[in-house]
Amino acid sequence: MTVVIGLSGGEHLYQKIADALSINSIKAETRFFPDGELYLRLPVENLNKEDVLIVQSLYGQPNNKLIEYIFAAKTAKDLGAHRVIGIIPYLSYARQDRRFKPGEAISLKIVADMIYNSGTDQLIVVDMHLHRVRGSELESIFKIPVSNVTAMPLFGDLFKDVVKNGIVIGPDDEAIEFAKAAATKYNGKYTNFSKTRLGDREVNIVADKTIDFSNKDVLIVDDIISTGGTIITAVKLLRELNVKDIYVATTHALLVEGALDKLKNLHLKDLASSNTVPSPITKVDITPVIVEELKKII
Ligand code: R5P
Repeated sequence: MTVVIGLSGGEHLYQKIADALSINSIKAETRFFPDGELYLRLPVENLNKEDVLIVQSLYGQPNNKLIEYIFAAKTAKDLGAHRVIGIIPYLSYARQDRRFKPGEAISLKIVADMIYNSGTDQLIVVDMHLHRVRGSELESIFKIPVSNVTAMPLFGDLFKDVVKNGIVIGPDDEAIEFAKAAATKYNGKYTNFSKTRLGDREVNIVADKTIDFSNKDVLIVDDIISTGGTIITAVKLLRELNVKDIYVATTHALLVEGALDKLKNLHLKDLASSNTVPSPITKVDITPVIVEELKKII
């Protein structure tokens, strides 16, 4: 038997996953004590030998959401779960995957250890920020099998006319993989810009001078929009390059610090995200991508 457990960061997705697989679902009870500690209860007597799918995106208040996930996974195992499969569509802390300055915490590694030690047997994530992590390195960091599925082909479908006739752009070197994934089905052209991060909110972006962007429709794809700094800088550059219409798509629309208003001021032709985190710009549903992966596992 398999059951889906929805946590606070998976409220918008867990029932869709359960429905698609025709399996039972339960919603964890959570609340905060007056001092800020988390209370969690799985409303079941036991989970005898069940495969348990725990759905939790780590957005908004990533620390609280992470602790909630750890409590749920540990409790599921305590209650007799056979396997715990973590479905963490947005995995926060993936950007700090190295010690860039002496003494820094390698956040991704620490979070991976927490997930492993919670008893999680397998993990599904979506477009995890893997700028420096390659192939099997991911599973050696987490010490469990990890499926990193992608929303990018969904954006390729959503904006297929742009993909077929224009150019798909990843805003930094590593985002070429996202651009390729969005463009491949339609044999679309894709490329990437080069980005240097100047601070938490500021970036510098340059384009490949050999590519003629003038009068072309462009689709910018990225894994995360957080402050919007990256997209705003990329759009300004594209306007200087005299492109026609600009479309933007992101998997994880975190949209912090008024990013949505800033993006609206850019007069984009369209702005879309997946629903790995709830967002007002959601235009594609990640559920079928997650379910397809789950069917290989359960
Ligand atoms: C970083 O390399 C990521 O892929 C995103 O480009 C970045 O997280 C976006 O953040 P922001 O919207 O704050 O520029």
